Amino acid sequence: MKAVVFHGNNDIRLEEVRPSKIERMDDALVRVTTSTICGSDIHIKNHGEAMGILPGTIIGHEFVGVIEEVGESVMGFSRGDRVAVSCIFNCGQCFYCKKGNLSMCNNGTVFGGRAVTAEIPHGCQTELVRIPYASQIIHKIPDHLSDEDVLFVGDILSTGFYGAERGEVKLGDTVVIVGAGPVGMCAAIGARLLGAAQIIMIDTETYRLQVAMDQKLADRTININTQNQPLAMILDLTDGRGADVVIEAVGSSQSFQDAFSYVRAGGTVSLLGVYTNETIFAINKYWRKNLNVKMGLVEVKNMGALINLIATGKIDTRFLISHTFNFNQVMEAYNVMENRLDDVLKVALKM
Ligand SMILES: NC(=O)c1ccc[n+]([C@@H]2O[C@H](COP(=O)([O-])OP(=O)(O)OC[C@H]3O[C@@H](n4cnc5c(N)ncnc54)[C@H](O)[C@@H]3O)[C@@H](O)[C@H]2O)c1
Ligand SMILES: [Zn+2]
Ligand SMILES: [Zn+2]
Repeated sequence: MKAVVFHGNNDIRLEEVRPSKIERMDDALVRVTTSTICGSDIHIKNHGEAMGILPGTIIGHEFVGVIEEVGESVMGFSRGDRVAVSCIFNCGQCFYCKKGNLSMCNNGTVFGGRAVTAEIPHGCQTELVRIPYASQIIHKIPDHLSDEDVLFVGDILSTGFYGAERGEVKLGDTVVIVGAGPVGMCAAIGARLLGAAQIIMIDTETYRLQVAMDQKLADRTININTQNQPLAMILDLTDGRGADVVIEAVGSSQSFQDAFSYVRAGGTVSLLGVYTNETIFAINKYWRKNLNVKMGLVEVKNMGALINLIATGKIDTRFLISHTFNFNQVMEAYNVMENRLDDVLKVALKM
C-alpha cells in the first residue's frame, strides 16, 4: 500500500510499504476513506527527530474510514462500519488511563507520532491503519453525515473544545484566541459552546481572520502585522483588565509570550500549541497575577458528544476544508499547507 513515511527531519516520502494488518485481538483494521494534514504533521515533518518519531513511521493522525476487519475481542463494530477515529490511542488499563489522562497512556500515543513501546505507531496517511485498543477510540459515523462532516472530530475539533474546556471558559467570558488557524477556529467553536460572550481572534493572516468573522466565530479580530497595539485593543474591549481566558493555538515563542500578556489577573491561559523549541517565561512579571496555566496534548474524550452536535447541525466544520486532493497528490498538499498557499485552511485527502 502507498504511505507517507518519515525518514528524518525534512524528509517525508510517499512510497510503497507492507500493508498493515490486525496484530492483537483488540485491534481493528480501518480502510481510510478521507484523511487530512494536521498542523502537528508539519512540526513532525520538520522536527520529527527531536519529537521522538522513528524513521519508517507512517505519519498522519486525522482521518475517517471504513472498518475492514476487527479482532475477536472488539465488540460493537463490524466490517463495513463507517468510523471516525481518535488521533490518539490508549489502553484503558494503565495508571493514566484509569486517572482519565488518556493522552498520557503508558501504552498509547498519537497515530504516526512518538513511539512509546517497541511497536511503531503507524498513522493514517495511507490506505489501511491498524487501530490498537479499537473499541475505546473509534466512533460510528451516522449515515446522514459525510466524511467531510466529521473529518476533524478525532483531532482538531476535540483539541479546540479541549482548549476551551480546560481554559474553563464560563458564561459571559471574554476569550482571546491567539492563532486563527484551524485549531484556533475550533477553539472558538468550543468557547462559543461554553458560553463566551466576546471572542477576539488574533492572527497575522487577514484571510484567516476574515473566515473567523464570516463564520461568526470571532466578534473582533486583530491582525498583529497591521494593527500594532493588540494589547491596547484587548484592554479597551475588557474595561482595562485583559481576557478572562486566553487560548493559544500557534506553538511559537512569540505566541507564548503574547498569550500571557493578554490575560487578566486571575484568568487562565490554555496553551494548545505544539512547542518544538525552549522558550523563556517571565515569572517575575506574572507571578503576582494569580494566573492559571494549562497546557498539553489533547484528551480526546468528547468525540461522541461532538458527533452528536454535528449530526444535529449545532457544529459545522466543513468551512475549514479549503482544498481537496487525491491521496496521490499528498506531497503537493503538504507544500500548500506548510507554505500557506492559496489561502489554505485544511486539505481533505481522498483515497
Ligand atoms: N495540543 C494538541 O493536542 C494539539 C492538537 C492539534 C494541533 N496542535 C497544535 O496547534 C497549533 C495550531 O495548529 P493549526 O493547524 O491551527 O496551525 P496553523 O499553523 O495553521 O495556525 C497557526 C496560526 O497562528 C498564526 N500565528 C502565528 N504567530 C502568531 C502570533 N504571535 N499571534 C497570533 N497568531 C499567530 C498563523 O498565522 C496561523 O494562522 C500547532 O502548533 C499544532 O501543532 C496541538
Ligand atoms: Zn493533530
Ligand atoms: Zn493506558
